[in-house]
Amino acid sequence: MHIVLIALIAAIVITGLVLLVLSLIEPHKLNITRETLSDNAKAGSPDLRLLFFSDLHAEFCFIPKEKVEEIIREEAGSKGLDAVIFGGDIINNPKKYKVGADYLTHISNVCKELDIPFEGVTGNHDVQIPANGIKECSFHNISGGYTILKSRRDGSDIAISGINDSGRKHRVWYELPSIPEGCSKNIVIAHNPDQILHIDDCSKVDYMISGHIHGGQIRTPFKIEFTSLRKDILPKYDVIAGTYRINGITLFISKGIGCVRLPMRLKATPEVNIIEI
Ligand SMILES: [Fe+2]
Repeated sequence: MHIVLIALIAAIVITGLVLLVLSLIEPHKLNITRETLSDNAKAGSPDLRLLFFSDLHAEFCFIPKEKVEEIIREEAGSKGLDAVIFGGDIINNPKKYKVGADYLTHISNVCKELDIPFEGVTGNHDVQIPANGIKECSFHNISGGYTILKSRRDGSDIAISGINDSGRKHRVWYELPSIPEGCSKNIVIAHNPDQILHIDDCSKVDYMISGHIHGGQIRTPFKIEFTSLRKDILPKYDVIAGTYRINGITLFISKGIGCVRLPMRLKATPEVNIIEI
């Protein structure tokens, strides 16, 4: 009995150590996912081709900016990119926002060179970054506003609108920004996917693209990362990462590229998303 107990404890310790090592390695890996959100995209004729990355959390991001640059250059050089979009959460500690600004400015310079718009929204971790600090991050901040892109399929105007994130402390769910008449589609970028539960008129939105959940970041057998550690609603219903249809809106949630709290990920590999709509 004594030996069985020792063997059991040894197995638990070894398993814990293995998981610890794996979770320290995983933030350094990167997946490139390819998403086709519309029927036209599935048929090979998308309106837009977007590169989306989210949740930089720059102090705990182990994906080099040069790697994201490489992906942008490859995609721009093959089928082209209509925009690069950042989904919010620049940094964990707002006092260190310059680390995130350095990363995002590098991406912005690549986009400028390739003549690709670099749009973005802020996340719940960004509320204490001063306004001039967000400007230093060099993306066109569409939080509370919009930008217009031309469809590569039929030349129509497509709105990319951004919703502001109030942060968790005094949570406010902001309304949709109004967009010009005549847009063929409205694609909403909102850091927190729970925003979809707080849109008054869902008929005004065709697609929503979000981050925030980190794919759970460190997955546990009993999903305590969602049931106890996070207050977000959608993950409690297994809406965590990937594409979903909610309230008539096609929602895509990215796992993001950085880490919050701990520099670890487990079964939630960082990802950059090529999204065709
Ligand atoms: Fe985040």
